[in-house]
Order: sequence, then C-alpha cells, then structure tokens
Amino acid sequence: MKDYIAVADYSPEDLQSILARAVSLKTEWKERENPPILKNKVLAMIFQKPSLRTRISFDMAMRHLGGDALYLSPAEIGLGKRESIADVARVVSGYVDGIMARVFDHEHVLELAKWAEVPVINGLSDYNHPCQAAADALTIQENFGSLKGLKVCYVGDGNNVALSLLHICAKLGADFTIATPEGYEIDPEAVSVAEKFAAESGSSITQLNDPMEAVKGSQVIYTDTWVSMGQDEEAAKRAKVFPPFQVNQSLVNEAEKDVIVLHCLPAHRGEEITDEVADGPNSRIFPQAHNRLHAQKAILVKLLTS
Ligand code: CP
Ligand code: NVA
Repeated sequence: MKDYIAVADYSPEDLQSILARAVSLKTEWKERENPPILKNKVLAMIFQKPSLRTRISFDMAMRHLGGDALYLSPAEIGLGKRESIADVARVVSGYVDGIMARVFDHEHVLELAKWAEVPVINGLSDYNHPCQAAADALTIQENFGSLKGLKVCYVGDGNNVALSLLHICAKLGADFTIATPEGYEIDPEAVSVAEKFAAESGSSITQLNDPMEAVKGSQVIYTDTWVSMGQDEEAAKRAKVFPPFQVNQSLVNEAEKDVIVLHCLPAHRGEEITDEVADGPNSRIFPQAHNRLHAQKAILVKLLTS
C-alpha cells in the first residue's frame, strides 16, 4: 500500500500493526527519544483548510524521527486552480519523500495519490479523516486494552470523522452505534462497506436517531462539530436541528460508568459538547489529540521506509 487515504484500504492486521508501532514509538519517545528513522526524509504538507492538530502533529512527528516537514498553506500551490493536481503531484514528487494533504474534495486527494510517485497521506477530506481514526483507536485501546467487543457510540453529524471511526471500529471488532438527526446519516455506501468489515470482525453497526437510546451500554461516546469546514452556508439550518444531539452530562450518565468521551477537536463548547463534559472526568479529548502525534509517526514510518 503506497498511500494512507482511507481506513477501508487497510486490513485489520495492518491497522493493528500501525497501532502496535504507535504504542512502541510513543513509549520510546516518552522514555528517551525516537531514533532518526526518517533521517533526510521530508514531508510536504498541503493544506486547503485550516488546522491546529494535523499541522503541528505531522511536523513534530517528522522532527522526532529525524526528518523535516514543509508547510504549504491554503494560499500557496493553488491545488487544482493555479495548477492541475496531476502536475502538482508530479512536481512535488521530485522534491520530497511524502505528501500529506488536507483537501475539501475527497477526489482531490485520490487524484494526488494517483499521480504522486511518493506516498500520499489523507490529512482530512470532506469524505473521511483516517489519521484521526488511527489516533482514536489508539486512545480507545489505551483505555480499554483493545477495541474488540466494546460499544462505541458516535452522536451528531454523520460526517468525515464519523465515517472513519465507523470503519476502524468495524475493522477492529468494536460495535458501532450512531445517533444522528434524520438526513444527517453516514453515507449509505460507506455503511454497507462497513457492514462487510463488521461481518468479518464479528461486530455490529446500529444507526439510530435517538441519542439517549444510542449511548446506553456504551464505553465510548464520540462527537464532532455540527458544521464541518466547507459547510458554513448550512450553519443556521444545522443550529436548529442538532441541539438534541449535544453531548452533555445527562447523556453521559446514560452510558456505562467507565465511559470515555472523545472529540476530534476543534470543539464548539456549548454546542455539540458542554464544558462540563469536555473538562470532566470521563473526557479523554486532550490525550486523544496528543495521540495524533504517535499514530501518525507509525503511519509515516510504514509509508516512508518501505
Ligand atoms: N482533529 C483535527 O484534525 O484537528 P485540526 O483540524 O486542527 O487539524
Ligand atoms: N468534521 C470536521 C473535522 C475537523 C477536524 C471538519 O471536517 O471540519
């Protein structure tokens, strides 16, 4: 596998080996420092949208492994506008060892990967967010030992983050329940792909419209913004539909006692999550954000050294 574009492209064994590598890189880094596995390697980071976590964690991951990263802001390159994606991919491939791209249109990251001679990593598209999913799985594993047999419940918009979480849960054997407002479900094609993964791992997928019912028996509650980047014109409409899907203390009280609450961040406090929950004892949102560093190191090592 040259690229990391979607969780769905990877076997459960490959995903487990990425997680195992992330664990060892994290331990090694906490105890001393990582050896320079990516010495002299450079990652180009192309951003069409803003970022805090993705930008810094990829940059630091490369530095910790002895390599370097180039940040290319939305104002630069003009991917698909100033220059065709195919041309950008072929030019950049001659300068660097890998490309991480955050794009609006998922087709654009696929097009980059098609033409690039170096590995391409999807740093979020309108369709999915596979690097986030790797960090999410690492965080769940740290709290419960493994994903197998857990009940993971996503509450809110069936967006890019929900889709990647669904796929990693289905691949790694966690039961996945989602509660969305009607009309905001995960893309049905992605759900039917996930049904196959779930059948192979022996897990289940449940889609509901009632958050209280959905979180019952859950060990993980996950939420994300109601309005993703690129959906600003829908903000007023969504603000009317989503409030019953807020992750607040009453909702958390319906789940298992040891439930952990996750959010990919940035959080819109007072909307999809309350301060009480985000800063409360069940929250793991900051360790989860920090795990982006370790999960992505494992992905970089896998792609840039093979
Ligand atoms: N969760 C996440 O991808 O955050 P950024 O948008 O800040 O990169
Ligand atoms: N669903 C959000 C995730 C941000 C990390 C978005 O696409 O804006």
